[in-house]
Amino acid sequence: MATCPFLPEEHSFIPVFFHKNRGLSHNDQFHALLYLYCKGRDYFPIQQIFPYICTMKINPLTYAELSRPMYILEEQRLRENLKLISNVAKEADVEIILAFKAYALWRTFPVFHEFISATTASSLYEARLGYEEFGAPTHTFSPGYTDYEIDDIARCSSHLVFNSLTQYGRYHVRARLENEHLSIGLRVNPEYSEVETLIYNPCAPGTRFGISSEKLPTTLPDDVDGFHIHCHCENGSDAFERTLEHIEEKFSPWFRQLKWINFGGGHLMTRKDYDVPRLIRTLKGFHKRYPWLKVILEPGSAFAWQTGPLVAQVLDIVEDHGIHTAILNVSFSCHMPDCLEMPYHPTIRNARLADEDGTAQGPHTYRLGANSCLSGDWMGSWTFDHDLEIGENIIFEDMLHYTTVKTTMFNGITHPSIALLHTDNELEILREYTYEDYRDRMD
Ligand SMILES: Cc1ncc(COP(=O)(O)O)c(C=O)c1O
Repeated sequence: MATCPFLPEEHSFIPVFFHKNRGLSHNDQFHALLYLYCKGRDYFPIQQIFPYICTMKINPLTYAELSRPMYILEEQRLRENLKLISNVAKEADVEIILAFKAYALWRTFPVFHEFISATTASSLYEARLGYEEFGAPTHTFSPGYTDYEIDDIARCSSHLVFNSLTQYGRYHVRARLENEHLSIGLRVNPEYSEVETLIYNPCAPGTRFGISSEKLPTTLPDDVDGFHIHCHCENGSDAFERTLEHIEEKFSPWFRQLKWINFGGGHLMTRKDYDVPRLIRTLKGFHKRYPWLKVILEPGSAFAWQTGPLVAQVLDIVEDHGIHTAILNVSFSCHMPDCLEMPYHPTIRNARLADEDGTAQGPHTYRLGANSCLSGDWMGSWTFDHDLEIGENIIFEDMLHYTTVKTTMFNGITHPSIALLHTDNELEILREYTYEDYRDRMD
């Protein structure tokens, strides 16, 4: 009997729809023929022969059509974020580029192209992704470039930011030889950040990021065009306004020597309570004071903020000492690592957090447990409005930014697929993971 990644086993038909606006590639046509062949002979599973072309209408309120774990990017929400971000860029006369560290689903880059024209990279692979898949050289910063990667990084970059004067001294000539158009910058440390979580604070004493003002030479090297400053994480525009005062106080003496300034990421302008007019005002004010400086912002989270969930299913319910744990087909460690790392408790659709330490007991209350062998791979207790049933969906909200780039294949657990929900509620699988993905990471 045929099976499809979207459908519970009992569905005996094969839902293959080709999106009306996207033609069939040769690969698609091959798979379509293979499908007809297999259909005649009754061999499947269909996900092996339709890895990319299955699409179907889906109900985004429940995702009841799914029986496998899946990250779902909602195109409509992504477009709304992109629109807001590109409006800020236009109104404030700045450039806003996408930080790959937060979001790198390259099959959606055509949508991004409608709104932005550059990206920022923190490694060779991100720089290649920008250059080869986004189609534009990247603004690149890494705390440590290497002899074995600097040439490729320079080739794929438009802007190259050095973290220290030593790194600058070691590589700036070589990078320019590789790419004569490269614009070179230095990361500076404003020694001021309102980020409270220590692991996300790039300015905490002892930081490894950036050069502080007292270590900068009064006259910058000739080929330094810009400063790069990153000191925000999910901050509001009020924090940016206050931070800017510190930045100007420390670094404005050098501004005359620069062409551009990059105020990094962490500007969460797509969050509902973010004061966007204040950001625009602040940027315009800065522009007025230093009209020769091109201003760049490079948020990541803001692009993919609230753009879709991770949908998982309940596999079992176990009990110990009165604590009921719903075992899921996903792992916090592998598929939602920030929940353990940051740490934070995710939002779960139609459930409320009963307690953070996972000891709550009561009607419809469950600890949520992963399918890995890590004892600590569980999260809090949630109260639902009914008893959970095996096979039902658990919808973890807002699981696109950072999550999709940070997942692992620890334990060999099947990695959730990644899908794009189009504006007409048609779901398109972008990527499914296989045993070979797990095997081929190692030797
Ligand atoms: C240098 C730099 N730029 C941009 C970002 C993106 O930040 P966010 O995703 O919070 O906007 C980060 C995040 O760590 C960063 O370190």
